[in-house]
Parts: sequence; structure tokens; C-alpha cells
Amino acid sequence: MINETVEYIEERIKEFRPEIGIILGSGLGEFANEFSGIKIPYSKIPGFENSTVVGHKGQLVFAEIEGKNVVMMQGRFHYYEGYHISRIVYPVKIMKKIGVKTLIITNAAGSVNKKYNSGELMLIKDHINLMGTNPLIGENDSSLGDRFPDMSEVYKKDLIKLAQKVAGELGMVIHTGVYAAMSGPSYETPAEINMLRKMGADAVGMSTVPEALVANYCGMDVLGISCITNSAAGVHPSRLSHVEVVENANRVKGEFKNLLIKIVENI
Ligand code: HPA
Repeated sequence: MINETVEYIEERIKEFRPEIGIILGSGLGEFANEFSGIKIPYSKIPGFENSTVVGHKGQLVFAEIEGKNVVMMQGRFHYYEGYHISRIVYPVKIMKKIGVKTLIITNAAGSVNKKYNSGELMLIKDHINLMGTNPLIGENDSSLGDRFPDMSEVYKKDLIKLAQKVAGELGMVIHTGVYAAMSGPSYETPAEINMLRKMGADAVGMSTVPEALVANYCGMDVLGISCITNSAAGVHPSRLSHVEVVENANRVKGEFKNLLIKIVENI
């Protein structure tokens, strides 16, 4: 299937070969609208699933940003949508096959760290996989990576340093912390958030880890950026809603855009 998908995409992008991939999370998808380029809806791509979540569009956007060839996923697939975990990471494998070397993965996340505020950004320095599964389970495709991949530096230190520098130049508050991935779709209970804090997590979400894990397995450099859209359950006595998450992600889109463009420029 991978070859068929790659063929379909390469026919449409002609000479264009992306070196940077960006996965745009909840409420952050609008970033891709800033650039004109080739757009391919997931529904047309052989082997791709359809993206179903509110606030996610569902297309690949190929565009040049600051002189770099970029492919953006406007909308991603989530485990909680009911797809097999291997389907979530399929686009990452395709990105690898069409030439992507660096993958920037973004998401909306709740803050577990009490010092974080909504509307701030966090660079992911490491993750805790609590989804209860792993996208590499099953037969290994040795054309992509090893059976037992090393995970000691999934989120590349050089990219984190670069992002910190760029954020500093833009005068932005940016944290660097650990992201915990839960399967969702329910948000966490206050007791679960206490557990995550004790484990060393700073933010929590329902995505990113499968894609980061597979990108690392394929030998890509990964940068993870969480947009803190809410305090996680129990941190403040308020209820959580997806509407709030998308609204808050939208609120930071200006800052987020400036940061992302400058990171791409400097990679
Ligand atoms: N928990 C899990 N996923 C999330 C959250 C949260 O609080 N906010 C945005 N995505």
C-alpha cells in the first residue's frame, strides 16, 4: 500500500520534494491556509483515513515556507477515533518515503504543571506513552526502521535549542517539558492528573506520541510543540470542553505562526 500512496502523491506534487513535515493539531490547522501550494484531501489519497474531529480539516498541504519545502498535515488521525494505531502513523511513514527529514508535531494539550498557563507553548523534551498501545506492534518493515528502536532522544535537543532561541528572539514565553499521551476521548479525572504529575508529566494530550515514536523509528528528527489550551482536570475547579480547547488554540495562532515560520526558516 505504501508504494501506491507514494505514487499517488508524487504524481500530484511533481518535482516538489518536502524536507520538513508539520502536523497541525486541534485549532492550529489554519496555519496551512497562510501559504498557497498543492492541497490533497485525505479522502482522495489511497491508504489514508478520513479526519473526523471538529477543528480538523483533513488534507495535505505542500508549500514553500521561507525557502524550505514543507508538507503540512491539516488535521491528523487520533487513536480515539477508533482507527487501528498503525493507521494513525501511516502518514508519517509516507512523509519519510517522500523525503521528509525533520518532523514538527504540534498539538493542543492540558497543563499538568501548575506553573503553566493557557495560551502558552511548551516544547516537548520527552514523552510518557500511556495510550496502552504502540504503533510499531506487528510485523516490522525493515525498509523503515529497526525492530527495537532506541528512544533516548526522540525530540532532538538541537531542535529544542533552536526553538528556544527563536522563541526568545520573538519575546515569547515558552516552556520545555514532558508530554503524557492518554488514549482519550474522555478527558482525565483529577486523580489521573495527580498521577501524571507524580510521574513527571508537564502536559497531557491524546496525540503526538504515536507519530513521534514512528518518526524516530524512521530516523527523522522530531520537534514537538504543545499549545497549552487549558489547565488539566482538577488544577482549577472548572469543567473541560473541546470548544474551550479549540478556542484557546485559536487565540495563540498568531504567536504560534510566527514561531513556526521562524523555526522552519532556521532548520
Ligand atoms: N487532556 C487531554 N487532552 C487534551 C487536553 C486535556 O486537558 N487539552 C487538550 N487536549
